[in-house]
Amino acid sequence: MATEHDTATGAQLDVDLYTREIFHDPYPTLERIRAAGPVVWNGLAGGWMVTGDAEIRKTLSNFKDFTLDGAPPQRLFGREAFIVIDNKPEHDALRNVWAPAFSRGAVQQLRPAILRIIDTMLAEFEERLRSGETVDAYTHFCRDIPAYVIAGMLGIPDSHRPDIVRWSDLMGAAVISPPAADGSLTPEWIAGEQAKAELAAFLIEQMQHRRRHPGDDLISHMVHAEPARTMSDDAIMKNCRQLLFAGNETTAKWLGHIMVVMDRHPDARRAVAADRSLITDANEEVMRFEPVVHRTHRRARGGDARIAGVHIPDGDLVIMLLGAGNRDPRRYERPQEFDIRRPAMGNLGFGFGMHSCLGVSLARVEAEIALSRLLDRIPGYRVAGEVGYQGLGLRGPTPLPVAL
Ligand code: HEM
Repeated sequence: MATEHDTATGAQLDVDLYTREIFHDPYPTLERIRAAGPVVWNGLAGGWMVTGDAEIRKTLSNFKDFTLDGAPPQRLFGREAFIVIDNKPEHDALRNVWAPAFSRGAVQQLRPAILRIIDTMLAEFEERLRSGETVDAYTHFCRDIPAYVIAGMLGIPDSHRPDIVRWSDLMGAAVISPPAADGSLTPEWIAGEQAKAELAAFLIEQMQHRRRHPGDDLISHMVHAEPARTMSDDAIMKNCRQLLFAGNETTAKWLGHIMVVMDRHPDARRAVAADRSLITDANEEVMRFEPVVHRTHRRARGGDARIAGVHIPDGDLVIMLLGAGNRDPRRYERPQEFDIRRPAMGNLGFGFGMHSCLGVSLARVEAEIALSRLLDRIPGYRVAGEVGYQGLGLRGPTPLPVAL
């Protein structure tokens, strides 16, 4: 990484992206960064921050000048997981193994199973609320839904689902407490690495079983797929493990945001309760307004990398602030307002380009059913206490105290 930066062409603003204030309400800081320029060097984060929707989309599509090689997600997922593979044919060969199972049509077939999982979670949650308790909706409603859905798709036996939740919680905590710029490790990171190792051993056992007893599940699809013929068990495992990282806490936190934003916007909640055809647009607007993944990263390569005309030195980290992109006034009218009737335009909450989210349709169905069932069963739920926000990488309301 370069040590000297030409701040004559790119602005500089050293903001700490790991404060309670920014976790709680990132938007004033994001506007301060936007006001400093389209691409801003942050000496504390050791990277260039990008806030504009167009600049983020351009950077995420430019694999000539920007790479995931050496960027933080690579360390998290392992270099063999397709979520961090830049080489398009190699990436697509792996992604295409699962793409049919995540298509819009295929996830519609999962609706009955998803509804069952949501209703099971809701039954106990509702009972506790009706008995007058204040309940953490994140832990007791949102949290387990996506974990159980993806575990089912991977063919993981029900008895192991609590382990899946525990491992992914520890991995999620590591994402929001990464190693410091000087390389020193946080306790959360160390616990996350331990969870990754336990999950790896578990998945390798599951893969070995599926080799002998193939089924119609995502692990079987991967171990019997063409690209897996030349891959090590470790590489196949990392591809399976990324689904638990990518699809689990993200969706749980989106459900949490939906509950909070609906509570804070009673007119929108009433409109959606009365007309369920508004749910899809309402949930997308929550994703624009309060995205879960606030930052995604690339590194500059090749010497010619530029963002908004600013030269990004070879090897430098680029931090794309998706929550800022989602409130870019050049793309959205009244960007700071939550408006479920704004024309759907596609926001950055599920990423963009080759690495855009594989699980988007699945997450949308989970969110649609979850909100619809909440509005059927407990339309008058209210947020009843201070909501916590623990990080920017995966930002969501936890704890989320709710009462009737
Ligand atoms: C609300 C829920 C979700 C959010 C906010 C979300 C967000 C994202 C984002 C921002 C990316 C792009 C990352 C980048 O470019 O650096 C991504 C990629 C990905 N997501 Fe999701 N995701 C969600 C749900 C899911 C689900 C349910 C699954 C699967 C079970 C999933 C699997 C993936 C995978 C495999 C990729 C990598 C795609 C590729 O590299 O081709 N995600 N997601």
